[in-house]
Amino acid sequence: MAESLTVRSAVYHADSGDRLAVETLTLDPPGHGEVRIAVRAAGVCGSDRHVIDGEWNVPLPAVMGHEAAGVVEAIGQGVRELAVGDHVIIAWHQACQRCAECTGGKPWACMRVKSNDSQLPDGTTRWRTLDGAAAWPYLAVGAMSDHVVVPDFAAIKVDERVPFDIASLIGCSVGTGYGAVVNNAKVVAGEAAVVVGAGGVGLSIISALRLAGAHPIIAVDVTPEKLTEAARVGATHGLIGGPNLASEVAALTAGGADVAFEAIGRIQTMAQLPALIRPGGRAVFVGLPPEGQTLELDALQLAYDGKIIIGSNYGGLVPARDFPRVAAAYLAGELPLDELISSRVSLDEVNDAFDAMRRGERTRSVIVF
Ligand code: APR
Ligand code: ZN
Repeated sequence: MAESLTVRSAVYHADSGDRLAVETLTLDPPGHGEVRIAVRAAGVCGSDRHVIDGEWNVPLPAVMGHEAAGVVEAIGQGVRELAVGDHVIIAWHQACQRCAECTGGKPWACMRVKSNDSQLPDGTTRWRTLDGAAAWPYLAVGAMSDHVVVPDFAAIKVDERVPFDIASLIGCSVGTGYGAVVNNAKVVAGEAAVVVGAGGVGLSIISALRLAGAHPIIAVDVTPEKLTEAARVGATHGLIGGPNLASEVAALTAGGADVAFEAIGRIQTMAQLPALIRPGGRAVFVGLPPEGQTLELDALQLAYDGKIIIGSNYGGLVPARDFPRVAAAYLAGELPLDELISSRVSLDEVNDAFDAMRRGERTRSVIVF
């Protein structure tokens, strides 16, 4: 039986402002059906920023981070499919595995998910502050920590040839982007696509679009450097976002794209999305907005033009099926994931990484342990 561990983690407190504290916590051993993972890489994702900037409420104090890969270090009772030493990618949407949605191949639609509330499947946490109070791993991962405990089904074994930093991204941004293209939008070769927002998620969508054979692939951002990055991973055109976006996209796509993705989580760009697609086209919402906001859409245009709105949660991923597919495509040289990582930082540099994200700099920072 494994012992409790002393771990270093990036923690968000009620009085933190937008700063994380890197501090020492206690991590209890994995319980039944759980595994402890030595985290080797953790991506700095827009969803963490939503929390730190006060846009989403989560249980506090929160051990931040949810995009990670590492090595299985200890296994709890009843764990059959993982062994100490396995390389794994962590899934942050931890569906119940039993309901009709889960068994029907739609785990992302599970209504019994506890991980959204930072809880393990039994409703508890393995983290404690040094004075004994519960601390809550964001999305039941808490990846910005040298060790984590997660349910065994959330630790997906990955080919050891995939470097940890790349593997970490497959757990959120890359997996989400791939899933949005393949599972949600079901893009086929030759379709015209536009991606609004070329951050970690948007660039992942673009690289998956190239894999799917979409053409043209139009990237939209407000930062010219992001359009350069987008071209490196497969965008054929780049546009600076603004009020004339719909006519600019129409000019490049003979009247509108077949499929458009919003990968920022801004109400204004989400509302703009249906105007970028042709009649019968698909508008896919991938970016997650702040809580409690509503969208205004041209209702007649939606109905009359038969436009299809698709909500995408975690790219409709089935992690155990899709993570290995993404890893295989990377190893085959079909997904340019190395291009997505702009910097590797230490846990102590976590606040600088979020500041860079707020300034619209860097494609993806990855914390390495
Ligand atoms: N028009 C176009 N691009 C914009 C605009 C705008 N008005 N405002 C911001 N952007 C660009 C930024 O320049 C940046 O390149 O959107 C991108 C956002 O990328 P990141 O900050 O790296 O965020 P990311 O991690 O990709 O997450 C995006 O997806 O999963 C969700 O919660 C996540 O809502 C977040 C979204
Ligand atoms: Zn994420």
